[in-house]
Amino acid sequence: MIYPITVYGDPVLRKTTTDIDQDFEGLEQLVEDMFETMHNAEGVGLAAPQIGLPIRIFVVDLSALGEDEPLLKDFRKGFINPQIVEKVGEKVLMEEGCLSIPGLREDVLRFETIRIRYYDSKWQEYDQVFSGFPARVIQHEYDHLEGVMFVDYCSPLKKRILKGKLTDITKGQVSTSYRIKVPRG
Ligand code: NI
Repeated sequence: MIYPITVYGDPVLRKTTTDIDQDFEGLEQLVEDMFETMHNAEGVGLAAPQIGLPIRIFVVDLSALGEDEPLLKDFRKGFINPQIVEKVGEKVLMEEGCLSIPGLREDVLRFETIRIRYYDSKWQEYDQVFSGFPARVIQHEYDHLEGVMFVDYCSPLKKRILKGKLTDITKGQVSTSYRIKVPRG
């Protein structure tokens, strides 16, 4: 099932998310639906608040980049109840976008390497280190679980410049190839 994607200004994107229990019903289906929603929107990552759920789940699929980066060929993961436990190395600048902020891209500084503990949708536990592009996408999605969006890192000047575009997005005055849920009130 493809969900509409929540956009900038929706309160769910600013909520604190909570861990889910192991008896959470329909977890595997939900994770598959998140992959389907993300692929439909041509994204590489999607967090549960982006489909309106304030819970600690995100998915990342970098396998489409496998032609240029063989190491990413099988990188398709759901992260349940993740905790970043270490951030290591230099901070690296790279341009990012977000399905919840359509049409906007800005440079964001993030750590080169992270260590993260999480479960998959079958409740197998992992403790892994990621670097480079996977670490970049994971940190972006993880931020969604903390109510943080990439434009929050922009300078005050940049934020003023972006304000009009963000207001348009909140009003649904933006064109997307995928269905969005426009915030109300
Ligand atoms: Ni995002």
